[in-house]
Amino acid sequence: MDKGRIVKVSGPLVLAEGMKDSRMYDVVRVGEEKLVGEIIRLNGDIASIQVYEETEGLKVKDPVFGTGEPLVVELGPGLLSNIFDGIQRPLSRLEEKGDFIFRGVQIPSLSRDEKWEFKPSVKKGDRVSEGDIIGEVQETPLLLHKIMVPPGLNGEITDIKTGSFTVEEEIGRIKTGEGKEEPLYLMHKWPVRKRRPIKGKKPPEEPLVTGQRVVDTLFPVLKGGTACIPGPFGSGKTLLLHQLAKWADSQVVVYIGCGERGNEMADVLIDFPQLKDPASGRPLMERTVLIANTSNMPVAAREASIYTGITMGEYFRDMGYSVALMADSTSRWAEALREISGRMEEMPGEEGYPAYLGTSIASFYERAGRVICLGSDKKSEHSSTEMREGSLSVIGAVSPPGGDLTDPVVQMTLRVVKVFWGLDDHLAYQRHFPAINWLSSYSLYEENIEPFLKREIAPDFPDIKQEAISILEQEAELNEIVRLIGMETLSLKDRLILETARSIREDFLHQSAFDERDAYTTLEQQYRMLKAILSFHRLAGAALEKGATIEDIMRMPVREKIVKMRYIEDDRINEEFDKIEKEIESSFKR
Ligand SMILES: Nc1ncnc2c1ncn2[C@@H]1O[C@H](COP(=O)(O)OP(=O)(O)O)[C@@H](O)[C@H]1O
Ligand SMILES: [Mg+2]
Repeated sequence: MDKGRIVKVSGPLVLAEGMKDSRMYDVVRVGEEKLVGEIIRLNGDIASIQVYEETEGLKVKDPVFGTGEPLVVELGPGLLSNIFDGIQRPLSRLEEKGDFIFRGVQIPSLSRDEKWEFKPSVKKGDRVSEGDIIGEVQETPLLLHKIMVPPGLNGEITDIKTGSFTVEEEIGRIKTGEGKEEPLYLMHKWPVRKRRPIKGKKPPEEPLVTGQRVVDTLFPVLKGGTACIPGPFGSGKTLLLHQLAKWADSQVVVYIGCGERGNEMADVLIDFPQLKDPASGRPLMERTVLIANTSNMPVAAREASIYTGITMGEYFRDMGYSVALMADSTSRWAEALREISGRMEEMPGEEGYPAYLGTSIASFYERAGRVICLGSDKKSEHSSTEMREGSLSVIGAVSPPGGDLTDPVVQMTLRVVKVFWGLDDHLAYQRHFPAINWLSSYSLYEENIEPFLKREIAPDFPDIKQEAISILEQEAELNEIVRLIGMETLSLKDRLILETARSIREDFLHQSAFDERDAYTTLEQQYRMLKAILSFHRLAGAALEKGATIEDIMRMPVREKIVKMRYIEDDRINEEFDKIEKEIESSFKR
């Protein structure tokens, strides 16, 4: 191993000489305490190293040791239910070592003591290739962890065991083409900055159903898709991400928290483990990996955390699962990037961010997708090669200063993500939650999702939704007129538009995260709710033409039913909504 010497220390950045045998992105150990660092620039024999621990006390001439390895994560049983820092050090076990003292502590990411019950699905003599599933571990009651042949390995199984193993104990052997025998483990390692290999990508087409009405109906995200949530402080970004983590129909959640305020991450560390998986009532953590960057952790770990998280997401995707990754907030990550770039004296771009900010953001979101996984789904016989599909959806909160959407992090993010949920502090102030602005938000997946909605929910779902959006847009224009010349000038038809828009906002878009029944709405129910509001609107329009007044119409008892639609139980949706539709019709017949 080569050994360099520190020539300069600048916060999280250390320059060392004598490093010409190293490679970009190699991990090094810095100082006598062997702090973890990563080479982020090489210039002749001078390396710029970002250090993942407090650099206080490091001096010029202190040694730097190469490891010859990139920054890797350990992938295997033990990820779920766990909380890691940005470079996958387990916070719970670090804590046992005493009050978050990280410096130089070498602690394995996955527990070396815990034993996992392994059930093989291949036998001696089977030919397997990279990505093939060779067995399973019931990691938690909520997730079956598929053990795969690591990328790059192909050959014949010469030994396979059944029983209880730690992640380091051999579970079998594989004879490769070169005649070499390689051991198999429950765990393998993967460099975080390198995307995991796949067979191919497919365009996303199934919705990632979240149960949040404004999301699913108006601005849907797809399994394998990308979305961002920009918004000012207090507009509900974190709460929305928690709702999505809890309710989205993904099997695995990877949640990356970058503390905004001093103690906000502490809140996440307390709040998140209390969330329940709705289907089972068990802790959501049993299908979650949490990555936490508290504000007292060095910035470089924050820079690495999104790569650590997305690599874990890819790993569960490779098992054939639908994975949802949330990052809160990517602005804190970008600030870490900015700080390190500044220390390297790179030419600053907009707002002091490095010129490669956009590239870095893109390389993160581009790891989302619906993919054909490596390997096949063969059960036991040799020939059947069923394809395995997995998806990784990525949703990032962005918190620009003052909520300013011209902020470079927002702008660069919007270039790559397909869905924009703009949170609005006016709406939050009025307690309209989720505070997603329906005029500025968009989803570029609308066309992709239409066939699914028509086939699975109702042929007229897209039309219903379009009509609702149009009414909300008309409301905005009418409000402008009312502001300038007053209500009196509006026609009856316009006044009805205002009433219906209000109904769409209050009876449909508004959704309480804290009401047990309201917190989640199925797609079927979302459709029926919106359809009822629009049926009322259509018949009301006809009644106005025949001389009814707006007041008569808005006083109809069936309005009460529309207000309460959100509370209808799942198993009564058809009959209850049929009843409401009938009542709407009969109300206008009289
Ligand atoms: N869907 C919702 N239902 C009810 N209250 C909400 C909802 N979303 C946000 N809030 C309220 O807004 C507050 C701030 O939300 P938070 O997610 O912390 O904002 P941000 O992360 O944007 O700073 C929450 O504590 C909660 O009281
Ligand atoms: Mg927040």
